[in-house]
Amino acid sequence: MAQKVRGVIARGKGAPVTIETIVVPDPGPGEAVVQVQACGVCHTDLHYREGGINDDFPFLLGHEAAGIVEKVGDGVSNVKAGDFVILNWRAVCGNCRSCLRGRPWYCFNTFNATQKMTLEDGTVLTPALGIGAFADKTLVAAGQCTKVDPAVPATVAGLLGCGVMAGIGAAINTGNVGRGDSVAVFGCGGVGDAAIAGARLAGAHTIVAVDIDDRKLAWAKEFGATHTCNSQKADPVAYIKSVTDGNGADVCIEAIGHPAVYRQAFDARDLAGTVVLVGVPRPDMTIELPFIEVFGRGGQLKSSWYGDCLPSRDFPMLVALHQQGRLPLDKFVSESISLDAIEEAFHKMERGEVLRSVVVL
Ligand SMILES: NC(=O)c1ccc[n+]([C@@H]2O[C@H](COP(=O)([O-])OP(=O)(O)OC[C@H]3O[C@@H](n4cnc5c(N)ncnc54)[C@H](O)[C@@H]3O)[C@@H](O)[C@H]2O)c1
Ligand SMILES: [Zn+2]
Ligand SMILES: [Zn+2]
Repeated sequence: MAQKVRGVIARGKGAPVTIETIVVPDPGPGEAVVQVQACGVCHTDLHYREGGINDDFPFLLGHEAAGIVEKVGDGVSNVKAGDFVILNWRAVCGNCRSCLRGRPWYCFNTFNATQKMTLEDGTVLTPALGIGAFADKTLVAAGQCTKVDPAVPATVAGLLGCGVMAGIGAAINTGNVGRGDSVAVFGCGGVGDAAIAGARLAGAHTIVAVDIDDRKLAWAKEFGATHTCNSQKADPVAYIKSVTDGNGADVCIEAIGHPAVYRQAFDARDLAGTVVLVGVPRPDMTIELPFIEVFGRGGQLKSSWYGDCLPSRDFPMLVALHQQGRLPLDKFVSESISLDAIEEAFHKMERGEVLRSVVVL
């Protein structure tokens, strides 16, 4: 039977979010209902609320979550009721042209639940990134559930469901950071600091954190930044060159989605280096680059969707690294909040007061 639970809804562009009763259908074939235990507040939720992703309001926000599988539909074999899972927005299809070429982390046909969650009046909801986990329960495709060790707290595990995975993956998967590399990360929110942590894990020896907020730069050091630069006080390109023998960084990671900052990342890169864009631009943004430099500097300009992660491969591995004390996921959790504090958490994020506010249900 369909269940009625609380969910956090964005009804229109820029309007404050509201808690409403939502209707969660029983899982159909290939689907699962998950009882959400924790869900982080990611900047992408705010992008949705501001109409920066698309206009398919009303949105059921929240997508960085962990919880317990309550019930599965017919034909589900990867998880069962009672499993502790991290929700992902990359349930790979196995059949698209990318999966068939052995590159499932680019899957072009990822699964979401077929049935729709609605408001009580039947209005169909658009779940953020096909998840919608600022809710007591949510309906997803079973492939969106990745089973991990239940010993890890949900507040920490859920972070791997989006921003932290995107940042770590931007460094280790997309940027291919390796031992001895120099790395610069622009924007030290949850995603940027995760890129810093990923660069450290991968063996980078110089990691420059760039932000406009000194508090964020202090936190970035805790994740492994060896140098910091407040780009409102100093030219980050000149600074990065000054700490890399005048060369620039091997890998520059843009974790904001801002054209001017992307340009800084482009200019701060060494010859044959890599720029990774993991920040999400708004649809109206454009960039202009000196074409001869695009050619003349060689290397790679890459984008990182979800850190090019493969949830089944990466989530359990990163949980294990955390449990071994090699990845301080708990440091991302600035505060635990209730469902009714999300609007305030957006403001705290904008004011730079938090890395991650995590809703605990
Ligand atoms: N590619 C993906 O799969 C993926 C996944 C999750 C999030 N994201 C995106 O990553 C971006 C960051 O997300 P977040 O949750 O870390 O956000 P956040 O708001 O926590 O962090 C952004 C950081 O950028 C800094 N900043 C802002 N303007 C700056 C500037 N001009 N120069 C330097 N620093 C500046 C802020 O001080 C803040 O520390 C967002 O665009 C989000 O949508 C992408
Ligand atoms: Zn596919
Ligand atoms: Zn996110």
